[in-house]
Amino acid sequence: MFSRPHRTLAVLAAATLTACMIAPPSAPDRNSRGPDIYRFITAEEPYRQWKKLPPLGKRPEGAPHGPQATVYANPIAAEALEGGTLPMPADSALLVENRGKDETVVSLEMMIKRPDFFRRHGDWYWLRFAPDGEVLKEGAMGQCIRCHKRRRQSDYVFK
Ligand code: HEC
Repeated sequence: MFSRPHRTLAVLAAATLTACMIAPPSAPDRNSRGPDIYRFITAEEPYRQWKKLPPLGKRPEGAPHGPQATVYANPIAAEALEGGTLPMPADSALLVENRGKDETVVSLEMMIKRPDFFRRHGDWYWLRFAPDGEVLKEGAMGQCIRCHKRRRQSDYVFK
């Protein structure tokens, strides 16, 4: 048997190994809905630690994203954008943090790629959250699709 310090080391090594093997996923569970997705992007894998994308600037009229919005991409989406992968892979997530003039968050708009969710429109699952996490709307949101489909050639993504 291990002596006490060795045993402690062995336990530590095993714990580290397990932690590495079950590294946190970079996208929420594919069956999860709004509230769980919000928990994921705020508590489990905070979106502010995702890749921040440079602003595009002017948004078309009717876009829910204000002039102070910042766009974030989860690691899967960030890699796809970097490599120009189209269509974007499953579990890609993009999020707009929409802020008011005083920098407070006004809303979060998000799109997640979910295989076979809605193939005709690129399998994107759309969400809109209030700043407190309330799910304002989610799913196949016509409002979002109508505008984003202008970018069908880049898989509904403006970036
Ligand atoms: C009238 C047009 C319009 C509507 C409606 C719209 N968007 Fe967008 N959206 C844009 C534009 C333009 C950008 C790029 C903005 C930028 O980066 O400055 C964008 C960016 C995004 C992004 C970042 C990824 C990308 O495409 O660049 C997400 C995520 C997003 N929108 C989600 C939504 C959701 C969810 C809805 C519905 C609640 C929605 N959008 C409705 C025009 C629109």
